[in-house]
Amino acid sequence: MLKLAVLVSGRGSNFKAIAKAIKAGELQAEIVCLLSNKATAGALEIAREYNIPALVVPSAKLSGKEHDEKVLEALAPFKPDYLVLAGYMRILTSTLLQAYKAPAGYFKVINIHPSLLPAFPGKDGYGDAFAAEVAESGITVHLVDEEVDHGPIVAQQCFPRLPADTLQSFRERGLAIEHKLFPLALQLIATRGIDLAALPYVSATSTLSWRK
Ligand code: GRF
Repeated sequence: MLKLAVLVSGRGSNFKAIAKAIKAGELQAEIVCLLSNKATAGALEIAREYNIPALVVPSAKLSGKEHDEKVLEALAPFKPDYLVLAGYMRILTSTLLQAYKAPAGYFKVINIHPSLLPAFPGKDGYGDAFAAEVAESGITVHLVDEEVDHGPIVAQQCFPRLPADTLQSFRERGLAIEHKLFPLALQLIATRGIDLAALPYVSATSTLSWRK
């Protein structure tokens, strides 16, 4: 069984989607802990709801390396196989990445980003794609490397920008896809492991049939 540590900074709707998929038997994994760098994160309440151990490791006033050392220490007793970044608004330093390095060279750290990477990396994928008036955007689940919002793509899914869209409706359409694509990508990793040569497991234009 895949042991996941989910890292968040805020609301936690993706964390909830993953916990729900596990409960429903759609994802063969266990969330061994939730870690937030913010004590106010809504995700902490969701962790209580799902009986998942929750850790707060504040990042304020710490350098990336100092914070990552504390994160590593906090995660150690839970022995996660993978770190899952679900709205974690920190850039991981090599201190954390190297601790999760697989023998094949990639890092066992998975992120979700709300654009069709490599387009629109950064803090506001939805906002940037919307402002650029793209006809189509998408969601990306990828392995993390040393660059921000970069690394081997595990799964992508497109969605259109409709003529009547506001940023809010555009964001909502994307978020609904996030909540399906992230558990699906994790389930594919649970069953196939990571085969770099076979990635992406789901390409941007494929139809998601796994969950309604
Ligand atoms: C999501 O849009 C995710 O793609 C991005 O941060 C947001 C987190 O939302 N990385 P939530 O906390 O999962 O609701």
